[in-house]
Amino acid sequence: MTDQAQTAHAAPEEFIEKAHIDAGRYAEMYAASVKDPVAFWGEHGRRLDWIKPYSTVKNTSFEFGKVDIKWFEDGVLNVAANCIDRHLPTRGEQTAIIFEPDDPKDPAQHITYNELSEKVNRFANVLLSQGVMRGDRVVIYLPMIPEAAYAMLACARIGAIHSVVFAGFSPDALANRINDCGAKLVITADTAPRGGRKTALKSNTDAALLHCSDKVRCLVVKHTGDQTTWIDGRDVDVKYLMDHASPDCPARPMSAEDPLFILYTSGSTGKPKGVVHTSGGYLVYAAMTHQYTFDYHDGDIFWCTADVGWVTGHSYIVYGPLANGATTLMFEGVPTYPDAGRFWAVCEKHKVNQFYTAPTAIRALMGQGPEWVEKYDLSDLKLLGTVGEPINPEAWNWYNDHVGKGTRPIVDTWWQTETGGHMITPIPGAIPTKPGSATKPFFGVQPVVLDPTDGHELTDTAVEGVLAIKDSWPGQMRTVWGDHERFEQTYFQQYKGYYFSGDGCRRDADGYYWITGRVDDVINVSGHRMGTAEVESALVAHAKVAEAAVVGYPHPVKGQGIYAYVTLMNGVDPSDSLRKDLEAWVRTEIGPIAKPDLIQWAPGLPKTRSGKIMRRILRKIAEDDFGALGDTSTLADPSVVDDLIENRMNRG
Ligand code: WTA
Repeated sequence: MTDQAQTAHAAPEEFIEKAHIDAGRYAEMYAASVKDPVAFWGEHGRRLDWIKPYSTVKNTSFEFGKVDIKWFEDGVLNVAANCIDRHLPTRGEQTAIIFEPDDPKDPAQHITYNELSEKVNRFANVLLSQGVMRGDRVVIYLPMIPEAAYAMLACARIGAIHSVVFAGFSPDALANRINDCGAKLVITADTAPRGGRKTALKSNTDAALLHCSDKVRCLVVKHTGDQTTWIDGRDVDVKYLMDHASPDCPARPMSAEDPLFILYTSGSTGKPKGVVHTSGGYLVYAAMTHQYTFDYHDGDIFWCTADVGWVTGHSYIVYGPLANGATTLMFEGVPTYPDAGRFWAVCEKHKVNQFYTAPTAIRALMGQGPEWVEKYDLSDLKLLGTVGEPINPEAWNWYNDHVGKGTRPIVDTWWQTETGGHMITPIPGAIPTKPGSATKPFFGVQPVVLDPTDGHELTDTAVEGVLAIKDSWPGQMRTVWGDHERFEQTYFQQYKGYYFSGDGCRRDADGYYWITGRVDDVINVSGHRMGTAEVESALVAHAKVAEAAVVGYPHPVKGQGIYAYVTLMNGVDPSDSLRKDLEAWVRTEIGPIAKPDLIQWAPGLPKTRSGKIMRRILRKIAEDDFGALGDTSTLADPSVVDDLIENRMNRG
């Protein structure tokens, strides 16, 4: 046994006894899933209701230049019918969604499957009445309220493609997404309370729509009732129309490969790309991972704290749980409002059984002390999960000791917007966990570790390199909206024949995977993906900025912070007020999550003679680790480095 294996935590016996999958079953199913994916997924695809069953299961190629991914391609289904209608005969009166509002003094709502059905049907009829047709794009810019789920499912019901934009994004970011996908309609709310403060979503949308075609209509959910501007003929009151719409809207038969949604995510270069997920494979994968990773059983109350604006909210608040007939909790607020006990108060109040959050939230709450957790009765919890970034062992242990009382399995799930669902994750009844490791692959997933220099597969058990996936799985993204070439270049060009994740990883002697973080120019701030290029282009769009380079640096709560090196225009003097201006500027260009944590004035940036910025050096200085800068001899002007070191902002 290795050292690491000795610290492994096995689930308690009682948990394993009741679990869907134990160690023997995992081994058997995993082996079957990679030996004969067609037989395996052919069987598991039947967890959904198909209007016309598929005869072809898998038709996929990772060959660069010919990348093509299709699952269940001749099957016909409707995603909303799978998430709602098929449950009605047996669980119409069961709660589908528990809505917990921002203010704990406001009542929670329990929305049954019957009620969900009625709302989604009415919403779908509203969309039809606005001229939305199959294949049309609908942008959803809503807070964490039930209408966000209704809107997503209403799109799915009529075959429209939704693109949810996180409500924390700025008008510019919203406009870019509306334009990129050519949306016909945007759905927003008047204002959004969060942590006791309000975001003016409607006025953000008004600002965004100034940059969009004047044909784009705006559906407004009157959520708080706050006053907003109103443009007759463009703005539409959704609740009013829903009340007057028919509660029946037939679910449209869709091909398994019809797009279900587009979700924009950041990459190394350029603008965020529209990740396209389709209907059949995505839903099979979201539902199956939800059931097995969280060991979800009928009657359990499941809570994923992510926002629906991210993929985690798509797969594990809406689609996975509802496809499984689960009760899923939607929380409008934040972990620290009205105080640092809110998560645990909600767990107690709604008797939550599975709780899924991000390491950044755990670290923030850890800093407030365990007394906030201890105040509440968490005896209903059966399992804990994390997602979004590597979890440091301190945070893992705190979560385990104080929230899990040492007896709840913790599933550390590694996956991406692109993967649709969990890829490397403990199956809780089967795989003992190690703090900080995402452990082993989910069924059908074949991770490989590649040598970053020449791309060859490292076949020994204990190795370190970059993480790639050898063969397709049903939840995989199919393309980048409007740019299939970019899809191939981003994920299939560098390492031929594999899907390249962009993450580094280590595999230990027990075959456990440890994700070491991004190896590209993507940073992970509080579990949110951010392209350094995006922040840079926002900065250089400011009139006083000549040049900017952005890197990540270790941050105790956020995981990574945003460190910006800024060269000002000739004649502009650096000042604290300019620093504040730039911070505010980035907030309005992208959103609060992109605000630089540290801005260093850089008279010059380290560049090679061919003009390429040497980010490796900038990263080291930002990490306060400038002793090991490596070779700087290729720099055009090595003296700029001395200035950057001298004036560095992050001093440990
Ligand atoms: C990181 C979120 C370590 C990783 C679902 C990945 C993780 C990126 C983990 C995707 C984890 C996600 N351990 N790192 N358990 N989960 N990541 O697209 O760098 O927002 O590539 O999807 O988050 O972020 P995305």
